[in-house]
Amino acid sequence: MCGIVAYIGNQQAQPIVIKGLKRLEYRGYDSTGISSHDEESLHTLKTAGKVSDLEAIIATVPANTATVALGHTRWATHGVPNDVNAHPQTSNSGNLVIVHNGIIENYASLKKELQHRGFTFQSDTDTEVLINLIQDVQDKENVKLGKAVQIALSQVIGAYAIVVFDRRKPNELVAARLGSPLAIGIGDEEFFVASDATPFIEYTKNVIYLEEEHLAIIRRNKAIKIRKIEDDLEVEPYVEKLQLSLENIQKGGYDHFMLKEIFEQPKAIQDTLRGRLLSQEGVITLSSLREHENRFLKAKRILIVACGTSWHAGLVAEYLIEDFTRIPVEVEYASEFRYRNPIIYPDDVVIAISQSGETADTIAAINIAKEKGAFVYGICNVVGSTISRITHTGCYTHAGPEIGVASTKAFTTQITVIALIGLYLGKANGTLSRSQYQEYVTELESLPNKVESIFASQTYIEEVAASFETSQNCIYLGRGYNFPVALEGALKLKEISYIHAEGYPAAEMKHGPIALIDKEMPVVVIATKKGYYEKVVSNIQEIKSREGRIIAIVSKGDTQVKELADYCIEIPDSSESFAPILSTIPLQLLSYYIAVQRGCNVDQPRNLAKSVTVE
Ligand code: M6R
Repeated sequence: MCGIVAYIGNQQAQPIVIKGLKRLEYRGYDSTGISSHDEESLHTLKTAGKVSDLEAIIATVPANTATVALGHTRWATHGVPNDVNAHPQTSNSGNLVIVHNGIIENYASLKKELQHRGFTFQSDTDTEVLINLIQDVQDKENVKLGKAVQIALSQVIGAYAIVVFDRRKPNELVAARLGSPLAIGIGDEEFFVASDATPFIEYTKNVIYLEEEHLAIIRRNKAIKIRKIEDDLEVEPYVEKLQLSLENIQKGGYDHFMLKEIFEQPKAIQDTLRGRLLSQEGVITLSSLREHENRFLKAKRILIVACGTSWHAGLVAEYLIEDFTRIPVEVEYASEFRYRNPIIYPDDVVIAISQSGETADTIAAINIAKEKGAFVYGICNVVGSTISRITHTGCYTHAGPEIGVASTKAFTTQITVIALIGLYLGKANGTLSRSQYQEYVTELESLPNKVESIFASQTYIEEVAASFETSQNCIYLGRGYNFPVALEGALKLKEISYIHAEGYPAAEMKHGPIALIDKEMPVVVIATKKGYYEKVVSNIQEIKSREGRIIAIVSKGDTQVKELADYCIEIPDSSESFAPILSTIPLQLLSYYIAVQRGCNVDQPRNLAKSVTVE
């Protein structure tokens, strides 16, 4: 949560930082600010609201030619989103300036100590405590900024990605990370620091992903120095080549990133499969799996840890991997797993699923699993992310950047990877017959086209959405593989339209939720042909008898449900195991259009941020 952008070089810093902050608004967007330093003085502008609000303020002050600046877009943790709590935060001396992503957990005790020594605080933030702690170290120990930051951070408990500068030494930035990401772009006599690489892709392809507990000293026109916070040991920077392009992170003519990302799914799934699925030969190549095949095949159990939409993909994995391999699978919310003293055996395989690869709870769960000796496999989308680095091995979904806060293509590509894993293992341990395996492999290859064909219903789905405009609640029902899809559909609706929505296994309805059904209640039912179809039809009858409004997702050519439901959205027929990849698409579109029609900010829903890097 929170986006950081900093620049030091020969260009005018402010426009670069502002443009970069706009790209990072998916990380938080409740308040924002920028500090820049020209030859003479420090200029700080902050405001509650979005980067566009900050731009409006910048337009009212004289142009700024500074070539060093720090910017921040915030998702509030400590203190309400207002101008004072917005970052950058400044130390009492007025010399040190910081932007911070993360939480300083022991900030209250540090604040008390600093107050005893005469420090005063304007904001409610933990960040202001940290910058004054750095000043305190500098005052007492008379050390350079880098050393002061290092000593201060050794007293801190929590998570951080920070960039700091000293107005008396405006040729230097100090950056450090623990638990929150930081990328450093190396341009031609210029450097960029940001929460991810998107703010600087048009300036450089050379990037250093700062490692955990490392600190970087970045001096204008000089080489970067990186050292470990713990023991001061200098480390050789590892410069990687960025694969991202500007096109990947622009809306490309769509009204919202979410819509673009929904429509990108055929290609995203294709990219997930590329080079991994040779359908004619019946071969699945996942080198990470091949190299560690025995760990999987000997595992008595697979544990899956994830949050949000990725957890829903994990639920699909439970059905699919158990079906295909007969290896028991358990799925856990990473946030629960990490605190409940879980039983983990050294021969367990833990699969961590995360689009961003930065989710704090999932990272903590991985660390616990590793400490207890389990083998950890990561499924991530963001290349070079923390989870991709700390897991023993894993594979990328290759969905391309997902910028809309509501996860769409991440979900379908995660399930695609899971299908590859299930098929690979099912073949390897002989639980899938040769013909079953071949049938699934052929079907998997056809999924991008099937997804594409669902878009023909776009206009109809938009019309269906209109009937939700005034709804306060909604129920989503599905059975078997479509139960996680019901949960995912409900999550999509609530997060972007603010309509209260719940997903249930269809058969559970009669154990309570059915009491909610009346003629005001929309019920979205996933009723695809394969798997429990007749049972779901009975559930639809039950809703119909209680006058609920039914929106059904059905297989092409369905007649039975069409007679009962108020609206039917058709999707292509598929095996039960791959149905979630298809049945989720109309639900994404439905939520999207409902949210748009209710005037909601689809890409930046209230109170949310794309990657949850705090607990
Ligand atoms: O990056 P991750 O997949 O680890 O993120 C997990 C959740 O925060 C994420 O899926 C969240 O639930 C989305 N906003 C759902 O659309």
